[in-house]
Amino acid sequence: MTKIDMASFVRALPKAELHLHIEGTLEPEMTFELAAKHGIQLPYANVAALRSAYNFSNLQSFLDIYYQGVQVLKDADDFFQLTHAYLKRAHNDGVVHVEIFFDPQSHLERGIPLSVVFEGMNRALVGGERELGISYRVIPCFLRHLSEAAAMQTLEALLPYREYICAVGLDSSENGHPPSKFSRVFARAREEGLLTVAHAGEEGPPSYIWEALDDLKVSRIDHGVGCEADEALCQRLASEHMPLTVCPVSNIKLAVFDRMESHNLKRLLQRGLCVTVSSDDPAYFGGYELDNLLAVQQALGLSREDMVTLARNSIEASFLSTAEKQVWQKMIGKCADTLMSAE
Ligand code: HPA
Ligand code: ZN
Repeated sequence: MTKIDMASFVRALPKAELHLHIEGTLEPEMTFELAAKHGIQLPYANVAALRSAYNFSNLQSFLDIYYQGVQVLKDADDFFQLTHAYLKRAHNDGVVHVEIFFDPQSHLERGIPLSVVFEGMNRALVGGERELGISYRVIPCFLRHLSEAAAMQTLEALLPYREYICAVGLDSSENGHPPSKFSRVFARAREEGLLTVAHAGEEGPPSYIWEALDDLKVSRIDHGVGCEADEALCQRLASEHMPLTVCPVSNIKLAVFDRMESHNLKRLLQRGLCVTVSSDDPAYFGGYELDNLLAVQQALGLSREDMVTLARNSIEASFLSTAEKQVWQKMIGKCADTLMSAE
C-alpha cells in the first residue's frame, strides 16, 4: 500500500473542535449577503476590502472588527445559515463533534432575543447531527470587558434555555479583566449544574489561569499558552490533565507568537499537557480545524503519533459522555492502525 499523505491522514482521524466562536465563522461573503438582506450599510466597498481589514496587531484590534461583523446577524435564518456553513466546513475536516461558543451579550445589546439565536443555531445543529453525524454542545460566553452584574443578568436570561447549553465560558478582552471578576457568576452557573470554561493565558498572565482553575473551577482552559511562564502552573496542568484548547493560527494572527515555528504547542505536548487544537474564529484568521492542525504539524515537525494524540485529547477533553468518548477513542485507534500500517 502506498503511504497516505499527512493531510489525508489528519483529515481521516475523528476529532472534536472545542474552541470555536460561531460569530467568528462569519465569512466576508456572508457578511455582505446578510447586510444586503437587512439593508445595512457596511463601511467597506466590497468583500476584498473587508477581508483586507483582517490585519490584526493584537486581541483588541481583532475584537473591534469581530463585534462590528456581528451586527449583520439579525434573524433566526441568519444564525441557521452561519452555523450550517460552519458545520459543513468542519465535516470536510473530519470533525465529528463540536462545542460551539456564542456571545449572548453581543446579540442582546442589539435587541436580538436569545430565542432567535437558539432557534437558528439549534436548527442547524440538529440538522448537522442528522445529516453529517456531527454531535454538539453549546457554550454561551460572558464578555469579560463588561461588568459582573451584566454577566449575572445574562446568566439569568440564559436559564430558560438551560436544556440547550452544557457550560458557560468567558471571552473578549483579557488584560485587566481577570477571571476572579466573575467568581460569583460562575458559582451561580455551577449551582445550576453547568460546567465552566474560560479563556485565560491568551494574552493575560499565568495568574489568570490559576484564577480560572481555583475561582471559576473550569473543566478546560481556552488558549492557556501563557502557562509556560509559570513552572508550578505547568506542573499542575499536567498532573490534573487539564485540557488547553490551543488555537495556533489565531495565536499567530493576534501576535501571541511571532511565527508558527515559535509556537509552544509541541513543548506543552511533550510536557504531558492535554493539548487540543481548535480554530477559534476561522473566518477572521483564515484557517479552519484542518488548517490549524496542518499548520502546527508542518511548522513544529509533529509526528503522526503526535497528531493521533491531539485527536485523542480532543475527544477526552470534550463534554461527551464516557460511553461516547470510548466509541470515538476506539475509532481513532482503528483509523490510526489502518492508516499507519499502510506506510
Ligand atoms: N479571545 C477572546 N475573546 C474572543 C476570542 C478570543 O480568541 N474570539 C472571540 N472572542
Ligand atoms: Zn476564543
